[in-house]
Amino acid sequence: MPDHGERSSNGTIRFVLDGKVVHVDDVEPTKSVLNFLRENLRRTGTKEGCAEGDCGACTVVVADLDGDDGEVRTRTVNACLQFVPVLDGKALFTVESLRQPDGRLHPAQEAMVACHGSQCGFCTPGFVMSLWGLYVDHAPGAELPDDKAVRTALTGNLCRCTGYKPIIEAGRRMFELPAAPLDREALRLQLLGIRRDETLVYTAAGRRFFAPRALAELVALRAEHPQATLLAGNTDVGLWVNKQLRDLGDILYTGEVAELKAISHYVHAVRIGAAVTLEDAFAALAHPYPELAEMWERFASPPIRNAGTLGGNVANGSPIGDSMPALIALGATVVLCSPRGQRGLALEEFYLGYQKKALLPDEFVEAVEVPLPATALRFRTYKIAKRYDSDISAVCAAFALWMHGDTIVKCRIAFGGMAPIPKRAAQAEAALTGQAWTESAAQAAGALLAKDFAPLTDLRATAGYRLGVAQNLLQRFYLETRTVDALPAAQVSVFAAA
Ligand code: FAD
Ligand code: FES
Ligand code: FES
Repeated sequence: MPDHGERSSNGTIRFVLDGKVVHVDDVEPTKSVLNFLRENLRRTGTKEGCAEGDCGACTVVVADLDGDDGEVRTRTVNACLQFVPVLDGKALFTVESLRQPDGRLHPAQEAMVACHGSQCGFCTPGFVMSLWGLYVDHAPGAELPDDKAVRTALTGNLCRCTGYKPIIEAGRRMFELPAAPLDREALRLQLLGIRRDETLVYTAAGRRFFAPRALAELVALRAEHPQATLLAGNTDVGLWVNKQLRDLGDILYTGEVAELKAISHYVHAVRIGAAVTLEDAFAALAHPYPELAEMWERFASPPIRNAGTLGGNVANGSPIGDSMPALIALGATVVLCSPRGQRGLALEEFYLGYQKKALLPDEFVEAVEVPLPATALRFRTYKIAKRYDSDISAVCAAFALWMHGDTIVKCRIAFGGMAPIPKRAAQAEAALTGQAWTESAAQAAGALLAKDFAPLTDLRATAGYRLGVAQNLLQRFYLETRTVDALPAAQVSVFAAA
């Protein structure tokens, strides 16, 4: 192990920008990529709107290698929620990077002009980068992204003046203009040139940023630095810095640990490493559980899902986190790791109280294991928020019934937004177990939710609304999964019907 007390020779951050390798060794580890671009590099095309991942004005694209000798992978992220050391070994693209060698605009920009996609222009670089992300992701010859794909790519970008129609139109038009592809092979070679095999120990402004490569190194570093802040995608932690001006102390970054980035498929379960992004995790889980597709789409926005991790959602343990009710209902296990080895906990046992978790100082979350569905499973998860996209839940619900014929042999119900922790509905579950799945059974269980939960009133919803909506969601679940005449989602969902 290197001497972690000193700046070691490997302590310089290297990343590719516009074909050149940038070296950084003197900015504080929690400086955002957005502020670094604007203040240090004087690249002011990338804008700050909210500094909390909500507006997309700061959208940039980051490229890295998928696996050791893997392909180049490009992802949009919010520069306001990325710390500079996270760029190590990657390539960064900003709106300035789109300048074409002959001075022309990139098709993503040209299409925005042609479609009148910009008025005041403040949001425009962010939109252009989201469009560019979609553009370079599209393999030549493959089917063009449809309207839904364009809209999804733009979910994280807000515009206050132009209106979205011309921007969505630009998302189609850019593919009709003369092509300006990304030279992936040249980029791959550059990324291989700055690949790092050993732990990055970056020291500046009296703070250290550790980015280990392997699980064993992370175990040792965690034991050595139990006070350090564990960092994954930074979509929660970044707000502590930007909004609460918190000092994070030393940082232990999980995003380069190979084992934590892995998704493993077993006969009875899928194992999602703690550093797997939300986008990749949902993709892996929505295959066996297509019922998760809407939650996937409605969870934040692509730039947040490209950075944030499932492990971070679970470890953060917010009472309104969206993945936990579904994971708890499905019987997921959280795998914790320390120098003593691994231990698995039923996810609901991980949450002890508001922001209190069953995590020892030298432990971290290694993975989440989700059992694969049995044939007789009926499962749904629902998110209640004020907007369809990019909003925080007032209530999040998940219901899972294991059936034998029409009898419920096992039942797991979990809610977010109804208690200080993501929590199971013990009394409603008990009432349903052993019963036939009938309307009266669903209603009796719904009434018991009032005993299972005493929700709070806050700015998102009143206690009465929360309880009422929780009961209605159980009713909706019944209508969608009853044995006879089950209603398709389109008939019970305002969104699906819209
Ligand atoms: P980080 O911010 O890196 O870390 C979160 C917490 O987990 C920290 O306490 C960190 O120390 C700890 N941690 C990270 N990794 C580990 C580990 N391996 N072991 C132990 N502790 C660890 N959440 C939702 O549920 N639904 C939403 O729709 C949603 N929308 C959002 C929209 C915006 C604009 C933003 C900014 C956030 C949103 N979030 C949402 C919250 C956030 O994106 C998620 O909680 C995300 O999963 C956090 O993951 P992360 O990797 O970014 O975690
Ligand atoms: Fe609004 Fe980054 S500044 S998302
Ligand atoms: Fe003004 Fe979008 S053009 S905010």
